[in-house]
Parts: sequence; C-alpha cells; structure tokens
Amino acid sequence: MASFFSCSLLSPLLVITLFIQPASSDPRTQQLIDQICRQCEDFGFCNTTFNENLKAPTTNVEGLAQITIEQSLYNATNTYIFVKRLLADTDTTDVRMRDYLTVCDNSYYAVMELFREAFRSFDQKDYRGMMFYEWKTSREVAICDGIFVTEFLWVNPLGDQNKQMRQLITMALCVHYSIPVKWCQPQPRHVKLDIDGSKMGSPGMAIAKGIFRDCGAREMVSWFWKKSCELLLVQYLLTCSVEQEMFRAIKDLS
Ligand SMILES: *[C@@H]1O[C@H](CO)[C@@H](O)[C@H](O)[C@H]1NC(C)=O
Ligand SMILES: *[C@@H]1O[C@H](CO)[C@@H](O)[C@H](O)[C@H]1NC(C)=O
Repeated sequence: MASFFSCSLLSPLLVITLFIQPASSDPRTQQLIDQICRQCEDFGFCNTTFNENLKAPTTNVEGLAQITIEQSLYNATNTYIFVKRLLADTDTTDVRMRDYLTVCDNSYYAVMELFREAFRSFDQKDYRGMMFYEWKTSREVAICDGIFVTEFLWVNPLGDQNKQMRQLITMALCVHYSIPVKWCQPQPRHVKLDIDGSKMGSPGMAIAKGIFRDCGAREMVSWFWKKSCELLLVQYLLTCSVEQEMFRAIKDLS
C-alpha cells in the first residue's frame, strides 16, 4: 500500500525509471562511483544505492546525478506519506508529538518541492541551479531532525528516514562536485564576470577570485583576495570593488 501511494505521487517518468532492472556497473563506472562514495559518510549505502539504480553498465557523472535526484525524491515522497500516516495515528492529546510531526510534514513537503526544482535544473543542464536547490534540502532535513533532538528523549520515529535522506543529499552534493562545468563565452559587446570563493573555519580565512572576460574569452580584469572572512565581506560590501572593476572593464571595451 505504501509503495502504491508513494509512486502515484511521482511523475510517470520517474516511476518508469525506478522499475527498470538495475544493470551492473562496468569498471570505469565503478571507479567513478568509488570516487564519489569515498567522499560520503557511508560508503556502503552510497555504493549500493548507485549500483541498484544504474540504468546501464556505463553511466557517466550526469547519469549518477540523475540517480541521486530520483532516489532523493522517491525517499522524500515516501517519508512525507509516512509522516502524514503517523500524524493521523497520533493521539490528539499528544501535542508535543503532533507539533514535531507537523514540523517534519512541512520539511519533507519542502524537500520534495526542492528536489523537483533540482530535477528541472538538471534537465536544463543548469548544474549550479541544481546544487542551489539540493543545498536547501539539507537545511529542511536538519530542521526536522533538530527539533526532535531538542524536544524529546525517546526514540525519534523519523530517525532512519532522516539519516537516509541526509545520506542521499550528501551523495547528490558529492556528485555535483564531479560534474565538469562548461564555460560559455559572452555574446559580442558583452562582458562576463566569473567569481568563485571558499572559506575555511568560522571565523577563518577566505579567498575569492573574479575574472572579467570579453566576447573573445580574453581576460580583461581579474582580482584575487585572501583575507579573513569578515574582512572579505566588509571589503565586498563597502568598497564596491566589483562594480568599480566592472565599470573599468566596460569603459575599456567601448
Ligand atoms: C560496490 O558495489 C558493487 C556492486 O554491488 C560490488 O561489486 C563492490 O564490491 C562494492 N564495492 C565495495 C568496495 O564494497
Ligand atoms: C530510501 O532510499 C534507500 C536507498 O535507495 C532505500 O534503501 C530506502 O528503502 C528508501 N527509504 C524510503 C523510506 O523510501
């Protein structure tokens, strides 16, 4: 019954793909799976999930990304239905449990919606967009998990579901880091700004780099910052260097 209800909520495409017999991975695909799963909390869960859902023995990183989104959406939908059933079975006088389940009901609804958006972005090869939505799902699961930890002492009825969901989200994010991002050059008389950055620790050091390129992909202006996170943010917000650099680059173009 559970699987009937859960599947009826998924798109036909997803249902078809989930019931295709799994294919066993060829050595190169397994190498890619190993590389991704080594970054995950539970190697065994990650390896099994990929292998059980491969559509062909040779699957590239995009194919693995698709598996993580489909599985995450499948799990989130099942858990959402499970929470609804728990809520229906919980005594109306058990206010704390009902409150907890209501929070998780909202969280898993959000997780389903976010993975649907992630799938849409994936379909359009917008991998940054896909990552954006996947990141947001981890916050939703943390809300459902966190409220129980602070409010209750007995066994969390969603403990296993939350753990599996976290593992699937981690897999989705690990796959993202393995997808090569294709750079597209700007249109004639346009300038493209690419920026990236990372930080270590909180508070800690941060680095940021930015490059302006013209339509011939020639580098026009670039800068590199390495500072404490706070200083970097202050510099970014107060000096508006980005805009200044941009105006300079545009002036150089014209
Ligand atoms: C990963 O899964 C494949 C297929 O099930 C299996 O053959 C392989 O031994 C697993 N790898 C490890 C390191 O467990
Ligand atoms: C979540 O996904 C895992 C891995 O595919 C699977 O073993 C598990 O049964 C799923 N759980 C739910 C609630 O769908």
